[in-house]
Amino acid sequence: VRRPKIAPSLLSADFAAIADQIAMVEAAGADELHLDTMDGRFVPNITWGMKIVKDLRRLTALPFDCHLMIVEPERYVDAFREAGADVITFHYEATPHPHRLLRHLREIGAKAGIAINPGTPAAMLEDLIEEIDRVLVMSVNPGFGGQSFIERALVKVEEVRAVLERRNPACEIEVDGGIGLANIERAVRAGADVLVAGNSVFAAGDPPAALREMRSRVDT
Ligand code: DX5
Ligand code: ZN
Repeated sequence: VRRPKIAPSLLSADFAAIADQIAMVEAAGADELHLDTMDGRFVPNITWGMKIVKDLRRLTALPFDCHLMIVEPERYVDAFREAGADVITFHYEATPHPHRLLRHLREIGAKAGIAINPGTPAAMLEDLIEEIDRVLVMSVNPGFGGQSFIERALVKVEEVRAVLERRNPACEIEVDGGIGLANIERAVRAGADVLVAGNSVFAAGDPPAALREMRSRVDT
């Protein structure tokens, strides 16, 4: 059995104190940092690009899980890799060539991640399964932190898990959006390996305590 990973999402962190925020979640046992890049085109919000990833890279040795919510992700993946991304996850819906891009990500030494929106069925991954290192199942519509969890995502996690079990057991499943104490255990039971947590960590009164509480719910 794999130990579930918790990846705090910096989207909900205070960037005026980002070094402290990262040190805080690292000390509290974060396994990775989840970095959301948004372009105002694929999603209705804008965040940051490669320069920020590169600068943040100097602050921590935690793996960087870069979630690209951008159109034409193939134009930018090399630059994100050079900036220090360990996992690069693009959206299935954002490119006509997901198969080519997954192969390219492995070629440049990144973990190859693919994300599917709430409206995209798990079956769309059918012809890509062997090329993927991490499937990101969105449990909110991408664009903003602090939205409420879409329960249907758990069914999708189970479906993806069943296919991976047969065809690519090393591949991880990540769930992103609305994760907190109310659903983290169910997400892991459905088959999730990586839990993204934005608001449930950074908007908590005591973020390290919130992170530890989530961890205690999923560690066996
Ligand atoms: C949403 C982003 C998420 C976001 C999650 O589009 O992909 O990573 O930060 O935030 P919470 O955990 O607050 O839903
Ligand atoms: Zn994300």
